[in-house]
Amino acid sequence: MKIIRKPEELQKTIEELKKKGKTVGLVPTMGALHAGHISLMKKSVSQNDITVVSVYVNPIQFGPNEDYEKYPRPVEHDIKVCKDNKVDFLFLPTNKTLYNDNFSTYIYNNKLAKIMCGVTRPIHFQGVCTVVSKLFNIAMPAKAYFGLKDYQQYVIVKQMAKDLNFNIKVIGCPIVREKSGIAMSSRNTYLSEKAKQDACGIYKSLCLAKKQFSAGKKLNDIKKNIEKNILAIPTSKIDYVELRNSENLDLATDKDKSIVIAVAVKVANVRLIDNIVCKK
Ligand code: PAF
Repeated sequence: MKIIRKPEELQKTIEELKKKGKTVGLVPTMGALHAGHISLMKKSVSQNDITVVSVYVNPIQFGPNEDYEKYPRPVEHDIKVCKDNKVDFLFLPTNKTLYNDNFSTYIYNNKLAKIMCGVTRPIHFQGVCTVVSKLFNIAMPAKAYFGLKDYQQYVIVKQMAKDLNFNIKVIGCPIVREKSGIAMSSRNTYLSEKAKQDACGIYKSLCLAKKQFSAGKKLNDIKKNIEKNILAIPTSKIDYVELRNSENLDLATDKDKSIVIAVAVKVANVRLIDNIVCKK
């Protein structure tokens, strides 16, 4: 595995490999790699000749009072995980190499970035779309892999690739969960053992909602039940519980055959997101 820090160097290397007919898969991450990321790497390795993993805590997707400074950065661990999983190139850019002094071009989705997480994190998806489009231009992959835990991010990136004619297949990969059911996330390290146990209630409430959806229960009632169950979790505060069409994130109606139930909840002051796709 080769570690590359400069965007131009990765771009040049990939250009050469593509001339030789190699296919490239990209796994964009912010590091603190866990089993969820590993599942993305494995998929990329199995579907492409070359796999590039980027590890970069992107400052422009964090709001002023968010966790940019304290976000975990276990670089040696991340290097080992990538090596162990047969990654070909690990891209480790810095703020300086990725954002020049006059940087002033941003990518923004004018519809999907305003709902759900976008309500309390108004600049988040602009930061995500901007850095992901830079990574797309630098690594020039045929396929890019995103975890479905960040469901809204996946839909927005897919839409961006379509809207801006990136010739890249955006692939959503299933959520990987701990035994307890809690969705794997680099931010789980912020949770105490007690808070982790409490947070399991989020997934339980989603699983129950999925059963209720299949049984034909009205969406309003399902939503009320989830809210009630989540509020029963000690220290929990609901940011949102949303039932949306799983394709376009329009508000779900009782006629929808496939919806995503997405939640953002603070447990012990740690903001967690999770979701479940439900089909009739
Ligand atoms: O999902 C993430 O880890 C980040 O939002 C991403 C896609 C790597 C962009 O910084």
